[in-house]
Order: sequence, then structure tokens, then C-alpha cells
Amino acid sequence: MNTEKLIIFDTTLRDGEQSPGASMTKDEKIRIAKALEKMRVDVIEAGFPIASVGDFEAVQAVANMIKESTVCALARALDKDIDRAGEAIKGANSARIHTFIATSPIHMKMKLHKSPDEVLEQAIRAVERASRYTDNIEFSPEDAGRSETDFLCRIIEAVIDAGARTINIPDTVGYTLPDRFGKLMAELRERIPNSDKAVFSVHCHNDLGLAVANSLSAVMNGARQVECTINGLGERAGNAALEEVVMAVRTRQDVFPCHTDLDTTQIVNCSRLVSNITGFPVQPNKAIVGANAFAHESGIHQDGVLKHRETYEIMKAEDVGWFANRMVLGKHSGRNAFRERLKALNIELKSEEVLNAAFARFKDLADKKHEIYDGDLQALVSDASTTEHERIKVVALKVCSETGETPHAFVTLSIDGVENSIAAKGSGPVDAIFRGIEALVNSEANLLVYSVNNVTDGTDAQGEVVVRLENEERIVNGQGADTDIVIASAKAYINALNKILTPIERKHPQAARQV
Ligand code: KIV
Ligand code: ZN
Repeated sequence: MNTEKLIIFDTTLRDGEQSPGASMTKDEKIRIAKALEKMRVDVIEAGFPIASVGDFEAVQAVANMIKESTVCALARALDKDIDRAGEAIKGANSARIHTFIATSPIHMKMKLHKSPDEVLEQAIRAVERASRYTDNIEFSPEDAGRSETDFLCRIIEAVIDAGARTINIPDTVGYTLPDRFGKLMAELRERIPNSDKAVFSVHCHNDLGLAVANSLSAVMNGARQVECTINGLGERAGNAALEEVVMAVRTRQDVFPCHTDLDTTQIVNCSRLVSNITGFPVQPNKAIVGANAFAHESGIHQDGVLKHRETYEIMKAEDVGWFANRMVLGKHSGRNAFRERLKALNIELKSEEVLNAAFARFKDLADKKHEIYDGDLQALVSDASTTEHERIKVVALKVCSETGETPHAFVTLSIDGVENSIAAKGSGPVDAIFRGIEALVNSEANLLVYSVNNVTDGTDAQGEVVVRLENEERIVNGQGADTDIVIASAKAYINALNKILTPIERKHPQAARQV
């Protein structure tokens, strides 16, 4: 390969987590970080350490564990943020601090209440402060897409002089268009006298559905790092989807002057893992990782693909990890086969005790379902790893549905160790169960989303349910999987309730005024 390298910077654990309801525990972040490392992602943005103690500890844990990828921590251009980020990444083999401050007129005036000169001073100071901890410093002029180019040139030149080695150009609000964004990238690189001392990067949001197109346009104009997330997860409409950027560059090597080092066969695996952990299902028609991305429905297409695959397929499904690990386990598979399969899927359970509990669930599932696929295992483990520290637990559930009768449910829950039961009616069995649970818990949370997806094919498949709840403070997602979708629904609802009843204090990187 004779082209330049395109650095893949994954921010699933940071910007992805800013998606309402996508918050992850430390253990979940570690699982995703390991999968990203296995996929050979160059830089993993592990979080925003000043946001909360939990965020700090998660970044620290990822930094201590990841060996191959660079681990990056986000910090506003403030001493306290940078010191916290520096502390969190101390243990990393290769560490980076990513500091940012807004540069658009609207952000400087309305959010920061600062003049451009004050913002410039603060940016230089932040980069200098970060250099106490590492020489791998990234600077982002937030809302660059709506900033004045002259000011961008001034501030970027100054932070490169101060020691920044990556300059990231964020389209924070997803406002730009591919052609103009590409031109901006080219102009910055051309006009800034010391631009050759830094790698230019791009970070696009998807508010107009253009995040990937804008990122690729920037790459065509000299960006050599793309910031992206698995499944395009992220703030509001999300970030550029890693799988789409990487496969576009790989598939169109005839036009891109660069390549990535990613092991693309890990893409589907990573996508499923992130979806399972966050409870954000992947839409079937999603490029690369959607269930239909390589499925051909029309007879003409099927005929063409059978005769010669390239007639209708521009990529091979195997190249992104479809079918790669469809190994089947069943009722007679032993603990060792189970453990080995989890290992191959990058799933490490914390202790023998957790492994035993997961294995018991696997045996239960194998009694109901003939063949257990990788998707089943991933759902089962996500389910198992959420059962710790739960305030609410299901003790018993019963639902009755009959033609001409109103469905009703009997629910027994243990709440903080105390058991209570109730009978409830509903318009359907799921409604009856949810009403029963709510009558016992009294959370007063609003149900925003209820969705069911089959994990594998067939009527014996597990149903994977996502429930999104909202109260005054936050939005959470709960997941549950079971071959009985009513039980899966109850698990998902209770999982969401357990999250919403555990308050977390957390700062948002872009919300607070930078003083
Ligand atoms: O979208 C954005 O501007 C960001 C910055 C912190 C890079 O996420
Ligand atoms: Zn962002």
C-alpha cells in the first residue's frame, strides 16, 4: 500500500456516550475499548474525566488496560479539566489530551462571554498546560463549521506554536455541506504557515445526515484523522459512523489518497457490542452493519449476485465480519466451549462467579432454543452484566392473554430487598406488565421508546427489547433479551428503572460556561 495513513479516532466512549440514554458503566467501556483495540483503532477517546468520578475512573481503567491504541481524554481549555485528564491517562502506553474551546461568534458571545482575543489566550494556555502531561496534544476549535476562517487561522497557528500536534476541525452542530467543508480544510492547511507541523483531523455531526460525507470531503482535502463512532452513535443525530468512513476509504481506493490500518472484519462484532451495551438498535437498512446491508430481496438482484457477486455488491459481507463468527453452540456445549466463544467475541467476564452465572443462563437458553449464535451470546452477556447492583429485581411474572379478555399480569418484585406483588390490567400483555411494575415502583418516568428486535432468525429467536425512559433529570435506555418477548420486555423495563433510580452527577463537556 503506497498511500498515506488515515488515523481512525474513535469517540464512541465520549461523544457516543453523550447520546441521551447511552451512558455506559466502567466495565461496559472497558469491553468496548478492548473491541476497538482488537479492530486496531488508532486512538480511543475514552471520556471526559472532569465530568464525574465515574468518568475519571473509566478513562483511567481504559488507559491502564489498552496497550496498542492511543488513549485520549477530553478536557475543556481549563487548568482543572486538563489536570484531571492528565491524571486519568497517566497509566497509558500512549496517551493524548484533547482540549477544546469554542471559536464561532455565536458560541464566544452567547456561551463563553469572551472576546476572540481572550479565547485565543485561553487556548494557548490550555495547550501549554497539557504539555505538562504529554506531547501528544490535540486541539479543537469547537463549532469550527460556523467560525470565521481568519480567526481559525490565527488560533490554529498559535496552538501549533504552543505544541498541539493534532488540529481537529469539528462541525459541532452538523451545519456544513461537503463541498464547503472540504474547501475549509484545504484553506486552513494552505493559509496556516505552520500547518505542516500538525495532523489535521475532522469531527462531524450528523444533524443534516452529512457527517460521513463531510468527513470524507475533508479527507479528500488533506485531513488525515477522522473522528467517528461505532454505528454513528453520538450527541443528537450522532457522529460520523466509523464503519461507513472506513469502508468508503477502503472500497474507493481509486479516489482516496490514504488507507486505514483497521481490521475491518471486526466491524460487525463491534457494532453489535455497542448496540447491546447502549440499547441503541441498528436499523436494518443501516449501511455496512444493518441486517439488510448485504441482503438481496429482488429476484433480479439475487440472480445477478449468484452469477457474479460484483454485479450488485461493492463490498464482501465477510470483509466487515458478517458470517465470520456464526459458530453455533447448543445444549451439549460445555463451559469451556462457552468460555472460548466469549473470548473470541472479546467478552471477558470479571470473575469465575460471573462466568458461572452467564453459563447457567446459557444452559437455560439452550433448553429453549436449539442453536445459540454469537448474537445470542452477546445479548445474554449484556443481560447478565446488568444484573449487579440492581435495586429492583423480578421475583415472579405471570401474564394471561385470551381472545375477548383484557390481558392481565401478576408481578412480584423485590425492591431494595423487600418483596411486593400486584395484579394489573393492560391493553396487551406488555402493557399489563409495565403497568404492574410501575404500580409497585412509582417511578413516574415517561416511556419514550419501546422496541423489539429478533437477535437471530426463526421463531425460537431471542427477542431483544429496548425501553427508553425519561424523568426530569435524564433519559436512560434499558435492555432485556429472552425467547419470551414479554419477559424480555419486563427485563428491559426494570433495567431502565434501575438506571434511572441511580442518580449520577455529571457535567456535559459543551454545556458549561468555560471560566
Ligand atoms: O462536536 C464537538 O465540537 C466536540 C468537540 C469536543 C470536539 O465534540
Ligand atoms: Zn462532537
